[in-house]
Amino acid sequence: MSAKSNLVINPQRLWDSLMETAAFGGTPKGGIKRLTVSDEDKRVRDWFKAECEKLGCTVEVDEVGNMFATRPGKRGDMAPIAMGSHLDTQPTGGKFDGVLGVLGALEAMRTLVDMGYETNAPIMIANWTNEEGSRFAPAMLCSGVYAGVFTPDFAWSREDRQGIKLGDELERIGYKGKHKAGAVKFSSMFELHIEQGPILEAENKVVGVVTGVQGMRWYEITLKGQESHTGATPMGLRKNALLAAAKMIDAINEIGFAHLPGVASVGLIENRPNSRNVVPGEVFFTIDLRHPDEAELDKMEKQYRLAVNKIAEEGRVSIDEKRIWNSPAVKFAPELIACVREGVAQAGFTSRDMASGAGHDAAYIARVAPTTMIFVPCLGGISHNEEESTTLEECAAGAQVLLNAVLAHDATYS
Ligand code: GLV
Ligand code: MN
Ligand code: MN
Repeated sequence: MSAKSNLVINPQRLWDSLMETAAFGGTPKGGIKRLTVSDEDKRVRDWFKAECEKLGCTVEVDEVGNMFATRPGKRGDMAPIAMGSHLDTQPTGGKFDGVLGVLGALEAMRTLVDMGYETNAPIMIANWTNEEGSRFAPAMLCSGVYAGVFTPDFAWSREDRQGIKLGDELERIGYKGKHKAGAVKFSSMFELHIEQGPILEAENKVVGVVTGVQGMRWYEITLKGQESHTGATPMGLRKNALLAAAKMIDAINEIGFAHLPGVASVGLIENRPNSRNVVPGEVFFTIDLRHPDEAELDKMEKQYRLAVNKIAEEGRVSIDEKRIWNSPAVKFAPELIACVREGVAQAGFTSRDMASGAGHDAAYIARVAPTTMIFVPCLGGISHNEEESTTLEECAAGAQVLLNAVLAHDATYS
């Protein structure tokens, strides 16, 4: 297997597109707030569609808003080789998480078109709806629908914290497409992404060859105590839901430390009535547990449940606990990983193998098609942060390896 071309992507063009689209939801601190299926998401989707159509690609949208831009290949009998990621961001997201994977793919496509290079298989770019899972839980929702993990109805009925449904928002922004989820086919997928962790930078490596994704589980907890007057209720007679939540957050953090390299986090909390002179009567919060080993995740789940139930009992608050998401650990396709290695060698970059700590659409797509990922460093390993930063050269390296890997894979179809 060998790549049959020496096509070189245009680093400045890629960078300019990253900066141009960063204005759709751009924040004063230099990040992006582009929650899925918001007005800002519509703007970037419209931009992406127009750019793909300028390249002669056909753009299709499925019933959960996933977008697929396809350029034909020499062979009409073949499903496309896909490249893809997501254009939605966290509420205080950076400019690269997900976006680099879609715009790096666009740059690879632009390079093919500029050079008049004909691939054997068609080449596709996918933009997956609601990877972040910030506005509508869970994460990777619509790549999950594509892969048959969730039904379209499940996705449409997800509500944000204001009670707005994802399906209604898709219709409102005009991206509830006509294709059934899973009906727009491709044969394999490569996802370029920033690492979102510190390893590549610490080891001074240009590319991460990603071998898999760790397992992830999300939970929601509602605690109910009793609202009462902070001045008039003696300490020993309170049913303080926020105090119980605080103890639980500490216990959950300890469970992370007790199962390294596992991680345990509470990221969202709502305290009611959130008034300075009311003992808090109700708290809602979320838990995110991750580990590369499913058996260890089972232990983390068991221990956290024991810990929170004990704290609830001692604090005399009721607890309602739900596991709302379970995404098992994933191993990527060896034949695609080999193409990434070949693409790295062809470009002459340093690299190391690594597993992904973050969730990615590739984790669900791996259930229905050979899939893998390419990582590039981000400054200080910081992501899900407006200060997330990756250089022009690092973005370009990722897009070049993406193109090389796709062409190495395409060469196997000649
Ligand atoms: C998605 O960004 C996740 O890893 O939660
Ligand atoms: Mn991402
Ligand atoms: Mn993310």
